[in-house]
Amino acid sequence: MTPQEMATLHAKVSDTPWNTRSFEAQLAQRGALFAAQPHAFALGSVTLDEAELLQIATDPTHQRMGHARAILDQFETLARNAKCTRLLLEVALHNSPAIALYTNTGWLRDGVRANYYRLKNGQRADAVLMSKSI
Ligand SMILES: CC(C)(COP(=O)(O)OP(=O)(O)OC[C@H]1O[C@@H](n2cnc3c(N)ncnc32)[C@H](O)[C@@H]1OP(=O)(O)O)[C@@H](O)C(=O)NCCC(=O)NCCS
Repeated sequence: MTPQEMATLHAKVSDTPWNTRSFEAQLAQRGALFAAQPHAFALGSVTLDEAELLQIATDPTHQRMGHARAILDQFETLARNAKCTRLLLEVALHNSPAIALYTNTGWLRDGVRANYYRLKNGQRADAVLMSKSI
């Protein structure tokens, strides 16, 4: 999947989508982790022994078919190969599909960051911090 394809997919599912240049820049970072299938991708970044999951998305026409679960599995393998022992992420408190995905794949909730996200409509949203030991 190219950065342009990632941006196109992301625009379909995110309130604050990354553009092609943002994906290119993140992929070019040292420690970038990237897993993809034709209809889904995950992108993250390694710092020392931790890997942060920055984005994960499945095309709306292919959701609830196990793509994100498979991509997270790949992401975890890449992180383990990079000698990471822990995965981290932040997710909006109102994003129940994503929170269900993480909870059902072994992630634990570590806390909440109040008013962390600024939404398109100007409102703020809390972030849930989650992690998984690998
Ligand atoms: C969250 C997202 C990546 C899930 O992708 P997906 O490919 O549909 O997920 P999967 O089919 O692999 O689902 C795996 C499990 O996650 C949970 N899940 C996924 N979507 C769900 C939903 N809409 N409602 C409830 N549970 C859900 C279920 O437990 C599911 O297992 P099941 O289908 O056997 O019940 C997708 O909804 C998406 O792209 N959302 C927009 C982007 C986003 O919010 N990313 C996360 C940012 S932190």
